[in-house]
Amino acid sequence: MLLRADYNVPLDESGAITSDFRIKQSVPTVKALIEKGCKVVICSHLGRPKDSEDKTCSLKPVAKRLSELLGQEVQFVDNCVGDIVSAATSDMQAGQVILLENLRYYKEEEQNNEDFARVLVQDSHAEYFVQDGFGVVHRAHASTDAVTHYAPAVSGLLLQREVDTITTVMDNPERPLMAIIGGAKIADKIDIIHKFLDLADVIVIGGAMANTFLLAQGIEVGDSLVDKDDLSIAKEIIEKSKVIATERKFTFYLPQDGVVANKLDKTAVTRIVDWDAHVIADIQAYPKMPAASASKVAPDEKILDIGPFSGAFMAGAMQLCATVVWNGTMGVTETQSLQGPVGPFAHGSELIIDGLLGSHGHKPFSVLGGGDTTAYIEERGLTENFNHVSTGGGASLELMAGKTLPGVASLLDKA
Ligand code: 3PG
Ligand code: MG
Repeated sequence: MLLRADYNVPLDESGAITSDFRIKQSVPTVKALIEKGCKVVICSHLGRPKDSEDKTCSLKPVAKRLSELLGQEVQFVDNCVGDIVSAATSDMQAGQVILLENLRYYKEEEQNNEDFARVLVQDSHAEYFVQDGFGVVHRAHASTDAVTHYAPAVSGLLLQREVDTITTVMDNPERPLMAIIGGAKIADKIDIIHKFLDLADVIVIGGAMANTFLLAQGIEVGDSLVDKDDLSIAKEIIEKSKVIATERKFTFYLPQDGVVANKLDKTAVTRIVDWDAHVIADIQAYPKMPAASASKVAPDEKILDIGPFSGAFMAGAMQLCATVVWNGTMGVTETQSLQGPVGPFAHGSELIIDGLLGSHGHKPFSVLGGGDTTAYIEERGLTENFNHVSTGGGASLELMAGKTLPGVASLLDKA
């Protein structure tokens, strides 16, 4: 049995795994195959190695972690094709697990090469192929597409759960449906924004991409990260959302305040700028008039998170929603705190988390995706608290946008 997993996990400079979420999520499939008495040969990629000399992309640390999670030995084989694979897999016992070295050490993997796929199946002595690498099924590679020509190919449990949950939410959501979209670039999320404009009852925008929308509306964003190329797209989306709001009950919400600092650093001094209602500056200056600059982002400041009014609005809106899809953090959640678990630019995402987890009474059905969101939720130890946390970044976005995923379309049980 050849099993394709997505063990493309983040490693630190010393080669240690910094998030084992993807490995953990693959365990039920591996265990199910072990219990059925299969000989389990697992293949995966890790990173984007230049060539096979690039040992920073070795899957060896993953074999060790997987073995701990399974409570049984996982033999690591230092190649994914060739004699050593053939020798290791020829006399396996039922229930034994082998992990092969990084598929991307061969350029043929990304070229979706037929010969490479055939040899992969042949050298692992596989009678069946199971696709469980949800994070990579948006790529047409040898181990997601061509491989299915050389063994009967079906879905694993993780892939099935990911595809079922995400397609149900997009095709037949329990309403009202809210989409929270964050992250850095509009360009990466443009397809799902359009999809949600058709589908959702509420869309809220956060993260650095909100800066581009704000600038498109003439709000000063200082030294914030902005995609000048995407300004016209942002304007178009804002106009389209206004039209939709005249046709049906629909809310499109951009942050009305933000957390700003003049450097992206845990030692930075932060302040809240309330560029919309000017409430904070008015209250703090009273009985004097606030300086005009108080409700503006200064030229040397960057918006690094949504502010508390915006977070409260979003958390309140989700109290009225049955389903919430969240993709992309509201601020720079990677910046660690000098004290306590919540970084200086993570409070906005924390307000979203509170709302999603039912702090205000109602707990909507929650579907989370995207690398930064998943990494933050994991760091906070909360992955179990949501209804679905996707292991896919690009794959979950493409599935949500309604695109065909080559690594799913190639399977016998694609329906
Ligand atoms: C991911 O982490 O996005 C997947 O493992 C796919 O990796 P890739 O973006 O390098 O193809
Ligand atoms: Mg990627």
